Amino acid sequence: MTVQPDIGSVRLPDLPHWEEIPDDLPAAIVEIKQALRARIQASGRSVEDVFAVIELRVHALVDDVLMARARGESVWPVIEYTDIANSTVTAEQLAYLRRRGCLVVRGHFDHDQARAWDRGIVDYVESNRFFENYRGPGDDFFASVGSTPEIYPIYWSPAQMQARQSDRTATVQRFLNHLWVSESSGVRWFDPDRDSLYPDRIRRRPQGAHSAGLGTHLDPGTLDLWMTRGYQQAFRHLFDGTVEAYDPWDAAHRTDGPQYPGSTMCSAFRTFQGWTALSDMDHDQGVLHTVPIPEAMGYLMLRPLLPDVDEDDMCGVTVNQVFPADGKHHALLLEALSGIPDVRAGDSVWWHCDMIHSVAPVRDQKGWGNVMYIPAAPWCPRNERYARSVLGAFLAGDSPSDFPEEHYERTWPNRFTVHDLNDTGRRGLGLTS
Ligand SMILES: [Fe+2]
Repeated sequence: MTVQPDIGSVRLPDLPHWEEIPDDLPAAIVEIKQALRARIQASGRSVEDVFAVIELRVHALVDDVLMARARGESVWPVIEYTDIANSTVTAEQLAYLRRRGCLVVRGHFDHDQARAWDRGIVDYVESNRFFENYRGPGDDFFASVGSTPEIYPIYWSPAQMQARQSDRTATVQRFLNHLWVSESSGVRWFDPDRDSLYPDRIRRRPQGAHSAGLGTHLDPGTLDLWMTRGYQQAFRHLFDGTVEAYDPWDAAHRTDGPQYPGSTMCSAFRTFQGWTALSDMDHDQGVLHTVPIPEAMGYLMLRPLLPDVDEDDMCGVTVNQVFPADGKHHALLLEALSGIPDVRAGDSVWWHCDMIHSVAPVRDQKGWGNVMYIPAAPWCPRNERYARSVLGAFLAGDSPSDFPEEHYERTWPNRFTVHDLNDTGRRGLGLTS
């Protein structure tokens, strides 16, 4: 469906769109940038004016982060699991969570439960001689050292599946999903109360590890963010003269369209990315950082339209590589880059799917750095489609199709089975509605 902006009788020019990766990328970038500028100008505003609106808004939020840091306050909101479960999260806490777009859930799982899952994962891989058979990294996104990976391409351990289908995870995901507008213009864009159990990997980083970390980047897409019909509609307010109405929590038009394929793609729509800690981790041991400003996505989307960026350049964004955030184009945003506080095994960490994030480097790490990646990926057309392929991978013990085809678990007898699924698990895999 097409949403026409309410700007009187002006008819804005349509945007060209590419539902698959264009053959000639530089030419398509030139074309879409010209079309986006023309559309903004037809609305009666200039690109500079629209960008200035977002910049001002983001600037205030960057200042807010810097001031909180100067006062010695935690930049990351922290909420107790019991408050989420008992609906006793205060209005102030909710407002702070909305402002920052990221969260640590304390005690999402019991500490002993998380430690038991961590040991369970070790038993699972060792009993199946994973380290002897490990063939090296299946992709080049996460660097790996030696014969023991930090990122285990393992998806179907009892520990992971028990965490994914647990009531406690469903409670946290529901709470987070409800921060979004999931229904508008008579369309239910996603079901905030049903998750699709997006399967992802495990990280186990041993004490003493040296790690280069991961640079600042975003995960929701690459050039498709500007070039597909769905994303153009999702980000409509940035380009039709109604930039003040841009809402990073609006799911409209985000949950059905395609994403350009690539080694870092995520087929699912995630309201929040997340992981669950399986070891205690101090804040200075190579942990996750974010730019805790959901509105920064508006800045990132408009920035390539400014005249200091080459006509065939989207500030370095291209297909098949992660979307970079860099000091050259996004210096203002990176000032706000903030790490998580200390976390304990059983805590979970969440960040809005559009937010810039990175993993800090570490040398001679103290303690383990172990996590299970479990996001919030609510039921929607896009996630329902992907769930069909996930179900096949689950039944066969395959690597899910978003990930390299490594398939270590096919013959592992002690992986989680269809008989171990509870109601949440069955609904998440589309076995029941
Ligand atoms: Fe990422």
